[in-house]
Amino acid sequence: MEPPCTKLVVSGKHWAIDGGVLTAIERLVPKGSTVLELGSGDGTAALVERYTVYSVEDEEAWVGHCEGATYIHAPFVVPDTKRPGWYDVDVLRQALPERYDVLLIDGPAGHKGREGILHHVDLFRTDVPIIVDDTVRSHEADIARELAMRLNRPMYVFWNFSVIPVEPLTAEDVARIQWEAVRVLEKKDHTFVKRYFTDPTPARDIDRLEWHEMVNELRSKGTTNPQQSFSLRVGRVLTFPGRFILGLFRNRR
Ligand SMILES: C[S@@+](CC[C@H](N)C(=O)[O-])C[C@H]1O[C@@H](n2cnc3c(N)ncnc32)[C@H](O)[C@@H]1O
Repeated sequence: MEPPCTKLVVSGKHWAIDGGVLTAIERLVPKGSTVLELGSGDGTAALVERYTVYSVEDEEAWVGHCEGATYIHAPFVVPDTKRPGWYDVDVLRQALPERYDVLLIDGPAGHKGREGILHHVDLFRTDVPIIVDDTVRSHEADIARELAMRLNRPMYVFWNFSVIPVEPLTAEDVARIQWEAVRVLEKKDHTFVKRYFTDPTPARDIDRLEWHEMVNELRSKGTTNPQQSFSLRVGRVLTFPGRFILGLFRNRR
């Protein structure tokens, strides 16, 4: 199906989110959920097919690129202070939606820098899963690492993106995401991969089918996603009074 973009698709090969990121989102939130994307592009089209999408974009040329997304035009601003340039914070404060289910960090463009988010975490929900794209680059990897630390969450690192979920992923989630991430890696040209790794030669054969088999095996064992598990939710309700009282004592210390 043609992506519902209003402009000609002129994308370079590595700009848009790939199947790995899309699978991660699929594992984290159900169809129809709301995605807040920082940095729009052709990949936004794949998101609007399944989700309600808010896309924050600094470049006017990319605002309105894909039909069906709600764009927030927040120009890139370099502050007078020593802080790094980033989206216009006043615009974000006014325009960011109150509710969304997942935050995808894929902008501004890598060469402009993305660490502005570390100075403005307060603008975003801290109770939703976060995906940081392009963590194959150290700059983005550092941002993901700091976000995971500051939010007290685990982080799952795939070869070119990282996932910071609210609750641990299941083994099946990880295997499925890895399966797609490897599919993408298999198609990347050697020169691209070489840019980011000391030695891009695989130490063992890269074979996505290995992960496909793992997914089947884990599925047949019946592992469930704890984020959707009924018994986990019942457990949470039953243990709420105890956790509440413990919390009160902790706050007094
Ligand atoms: C990595 S891109 C964001 C990609 C987007 N999330 C997607 O999946 O298509 C970061 C920024 O680069 C710019 N951009 C997006 N697609 C581009 C392309 N094909 N060529 C050049 N710049 C692009 C936009 O300003 C965007 O905010």
